[in-house]
Amino acid sequence: MEEPVVSMKDIHYAYETKNILHDIHFDIPQGAFMGMLGPNGGGKTTLIKLILGLLKPDHGSIHLFGQPIEKFRNWSKIGFVSQKANTFNKGFPATVYEVVSMGLTAKIGYLKLFTTKHKKKVLHAIDQVGMSHYAYENVGSLSGGQQQRVFIARSLVSDPELLILDEPTVGVDQENVQKFYSLLHQLNDEHNITLLLITHDTGTMTEHATDIVCLNTTLHFHGKPEEYKTLSNKDLSQFYGHPVNIVTHDH
Ligand SMILES: Nc1ncnc2c1ncn2[C@@H]1O[C@H](COP(=O)(O)OP(=O)(O)OP(=O)(O)O)[C@@H](O)[C@H]1O
Ligand SMILES: [Mg+2]
Repeated sequence: MEEPVVSMKDIHYAYETKNILHDIHFDIPQGAFMGMLGPNGGGKTTLIKLILGLLKPDHGSIHLFGQPIEKFRNWSKIGFVSQKANTFNKGFPATVYEVVSMGLTAKIGYLKLFTTKHKKKVLHAIDQVGMSHYAYENVGSLSGGQQQRVFIARSLVSDPELLILDEPTVGVDQENVQKFYSLLHQLNDEHNITLLLITHDTGTMTEHATDIVCLNTTLHFHGKPEEYKTLSNKDLSQFYGHPVNIVTHDH
């Protein structure tokens, strides 16, 4: 069997004394479209920071592409779109092309000149997210949803095998959320990019993900969308710590 892209075993993490993650066992199989749900403060962004090597677990082990994280060097295999991505203001002085190019500088170094091959890669990534018409527009003048696409292009330009998206649809209208999920499907199906998507957008996500995890300090659920949909409101209330009534979008 293929190595999971991410494997976390017995992970514990506390910021000072506050226990944020407890006893996390969790694999992301190659090719999965993993959706992660959880209440505010449940530890989702913290878990991502552990995967990205920005924080070190207090206990437990993390493997990336079969390698212990301490030895892993191939960071361009992992793309990340942060929760705070679309915060450009109107005056931000960079074009879509320039922002997407930044995704390559990590790989080729700031001072090396871009070759024609690099330029093509940048334009291809912009095309992949459907933003070709805006390539030379200022990112500040784009809508939140369009900016989000630019960030995805920036992380695609280095050909990641795993793409992690932390709440990418916040502030994106329903029509663009649907387009956004189509884009994710395309990346997952056609380009074979494994996805980890964090979202509060439960109804839409459960229609698209192949696997679902629910995180609130510990993993409360890890399974298929069909199983998630069979959870009762009581199970979900325990997980969220308050009463919930989840509406799923059945078509
Ligand atoms: N740098 C930090 N120092 C101390 N505590 C932190 C720090 N970052 C996060 N926390 C705390 O850790 C907990 C988990 O935060 P985290 O950002 O991982 O949650 P989250 O699940 O991503 O929430 P949200 O859905 O709101 O994005 C929160 O209680 C938060 O206050
Ligand atoms: Mg978060």
